[in-house]
Amino acid sequence: MRVGVTREQRAGERRVAATPETVEQLTKLGLEVVVEKGAGVESGISDAAYKHAGATIAPTLALGKLDVLLHVRPLSETTAKALRKGAVTIGMASPSTELPTVTALAKSGVTSFALELIPRISRAQSMDALSSQALVGGYRAVIEAIARYPRFFPLYMTAAGTIPPAKVLVLGAGVAGLQAIGTAKRLGARVSANDIRAASADEVRSMGGTFINLDLDAAAEGTGGYAKELAEDRAKRQRELLAPHIASSDVLITTAAIPGRAAPLLVTTDMVKGMRAGSVVIDLAAESGGNVEGVVAGKDTPVPVDGGTVTLVGLKDAPSAIPSDASRLYAKNVANLLALMTADGTVAPDYTDEVVSGACLTRDGTIVHEPTANALAEKRAPAKKAPAKKATAKRPATAAKAATTRKGAN
Ligand SMILES: NC(=O)c1ccc[n+]([C@@H]2O[C@H](COP(=O)([O-])OP(=O)(O)OC[C@H]3O[C@@H](n4cnc5c(N)ncnc54)[C@H](O)[C@@H]3O)[C@@H](O)[C@H]2O)c1
Repeated sequence: MRVGVTREQRAGERRVAATPETVEQLTKLGLEVVVEKGAGVESGISDAAYKHAGATIAPTLALGKLDVLLHVRPLSETTAKALRKGAVTIGMASPSTELPTVTALAKSGVTSFALELIPRISRAQSMDALSSQALVGGYRAVIEAIARYPRFFPLYMTAAGTIPPAKVLVLGAGVAGLQAIGTAKRLGARVSANDIRAASADEVRSMGGTFINLDLDAAAEGTGGYAKELAEDRAKRQRELLAPHIASSDVLITTAAIPGRAAPLLVTTDMVKGMRAGSVVIDLAAESGGNVEGVVAGKDTPVPVDGGTVTLVGLKDAPSAIPSDASRLYAKNVANLLALMTADGTVAPDYTDEVVSGACLTRDGTIVHEPTANALAEKRAPAKKAPAKKATAKRPATAAKAATTRKGAN
């Protein structure tokens, strides 16, 4: 069977869905791999390296002749329409924000697998692209902070005087947050963190951070160990309790997310204004609505404070900024899922496997992922608009509208 690897089309996307290592893995399974010319260039992989690993290179992919298409970013509607009935796609599909493509995939009779939907169970960890890419994002958040921070991260005791270590505060200690804690710690900062899941205190400590217990009555834990959205009074209380910790931090990194919801607002502009000049705020949740009021994805916003500014950074495409290693991990996730569905050179998904059925988005002409099918049905027959709730802290219109891949995927 023929597996195509696409050259990513979205602006800013530098990753690729296969590496020479995974090409070898797939050819050993009896699959034929065709890589679109230049697909790996941004990740430092030449066409020759793919060829050496056993792939053929095509100037453009003949989409209608592929049995499987591997991708990073959600496919375009045009690509979805060009695929043949029965073809399989594997990649990030961002079902909540890409409904037209999901509809086109179903209409074309394509069997699509969304990596965001892979169940977060131990057996599926090697296919968990959310985790592998969150790891890259968390690391990158610290690098972006350090590049903008006008002081040192580590403690320096020199003949010319002592420089204290930077104080880094991480809000949201999931995969990305924990990686940010570990990276900032390794760079010599004094790191503290807060999360609302009960298990997070130990996880933060295991990475060398100090856990800030806000005593919010009870931990907000939903199903599968994920966080639950806080009620507005508790969210407000959380912001009040966080304010002094934020004010005494030099670098703030926010990564908080709730599956199926926009990112929670944890930091208001007034809280940012409480930080000293030169401080840096990195919002890793900027693309999904933002944890920080006023953040713009892909932009630095200077927030005026006494004596200068605080730099508010809306981090965008973070894993793409480290394309080689992000691709290496991502490609492995993709190949492992494909391997799970392949026997004797034939791709034949076994839907009795919870990993396979859990990741399946469209199949046999229908959208099989219920939340996505419901979202589409709702869009087609919009319910009567409920009166808007009074907001306690303002979000920019664009941010409020945004929803992540993951958010709507669950
Ligand atoms: N394969 C697996 O078994 C697997 C893989 C990855 C993660 N997990 C688990 O899934 C859970 C979520 O991890 P993730 O990285 O996907 O998280 P995520 O990206 O969904 O969210 C990031 C973090 O934000 C936190 N958060 C949400 N609202 C908050 C608020 N108001 N204030 C502070 N923090 C807030 C969440 O608790 C979470 O830790 C964790 O328990 C993690 O251990 C399991």
